[in-house]
Amino acid sequence: ALRASFATKAQKVDQNLQHHLQPQASFKVAVLGAAGGIGQPLALLIKMSPLVSDLHLYDVANVKGVAADLSHCNTPSQVHAFTGASELANSLKGVNVVVIPAGVPRKPGMTRDDLFNINAGIVRDLVAAVADNCPDAFIHIISNPVNSTVPIAAEVLKQKGVYDPKKLFGVTTLDVVRANTFVAQRKNLKLIDVDVPVIGGHAGITILPLLSKTKPSVSFTDEEIEELTVRIQNAGTEVVEAKAGAGSATLSMAYAAARFVESSLRALDGDGDVYECSYVQSDLTELPFFASRVKIGRKGVEALISSDLQGLTEYEQKALEALKPELKASIEKGISFAQKQT
Ligand code: NAI
Repeated sequence: ALRASFATKAQKVDQNLQHHLQPQASFKVAVLGAAGGIGQPLALLIKMSPLVSDLHLYDVANVKGVAADLSHCNTPSQVHAFTGASELANSLKGVNVVVIPAGVPRKPGMTRDDLFNINAGIVRDLVAAVADNCPDAFIHIISNPVNSTVPIAAEVLKQKGVYDPKKLFGVTTLDVVRANTFVAQRKNLKLIDVDVPVIGGHAGITILPLLSKTKPSVSFTDEEIEELTVRIQNAGTEVVEAKAGAGSATLSMAYAAARFVESSLRALDGDGDVYECSYVQSDLTELPFFASRVKIGRKGVEALISSDLQGLTEYEQKALEALKPELKASIEKGISFAQKQT
């Protein structure tokens, strides 16, 4: 009897899951670097989305097993494996959203910029293939250093004559996810309600959480602001050190990236109320790329939310000025790398 009731319960949970996962739209999503630490859990989370009809998994190796494994989940999307450069073009045909977590992660003692020499070339080559095969797709860049890899991607797309700045996104969602978590913990708030905009870039001091703009409105002491800001900026390093050589954030990153994919798909599906922070081409400051909240619509970025930058506290204003030289240098490094190649 116990076994029977367990079976019924399990079936109910499964049916519930199935009910929520009735296909609601049929978008195609590609993950480049899908066999990696981020790629695998990200692919699993995207496999859960009712908005996805086809999930294309591309990597230089080990992707067949990941795809076979995922394909057994009884959720609507079809999973397809693509291995190696000769299958890259096919992995991108007809795709609406391309997510790029390909590349090496940090080890203890490394900055994100230390990854530049390897990851810059990987992103350049993958984005060139995106330009050739699905130039209209939304492109989500996860590979670090994001502050430089997004400008590299923009240059490659310009060289190919298909750059649409509204569709190129640096994924900074993890900074927002972390800020929300840490603020909710520190202030004993209900996690689901907390939203902290994070602006600037995605490395060290270029990550600037605007705690004064936290929703719901909450007050912090100067010590709390300093402690929370520094923790959010160094949260990636916290994980790198805890993993002690085995890589950087993968599970929380997959969660954050899946949220950004889902938001993009909702926007593509016509939802008129989609806002996320992202590192994009921007005119909010004098820097050509800058992370802020953006409104996302069917055609990509519909608006940059400039109001977050108004009425900053003195602490935030100082931090904003302090991050600009570093962010500027990272942007220029990316642009000159991409321009040197031609
Ligand atoms: P990983 O080493 O576990 O996986 C990377 C995957 O990329 C591997 O499967 C590898 O085979 C694949 N790859 C390498 N070259 C490739 C190519 N040319 N084409 C396709 N695939 C290729 O690394 P992990 O932990 O998944 O991290 C990936 C990247 O994400 C790193 O650059 C890391 O710094 C970055 N990252 C970004 C975050 C963000 O907030 N934007 C947060 C955490 C990590």
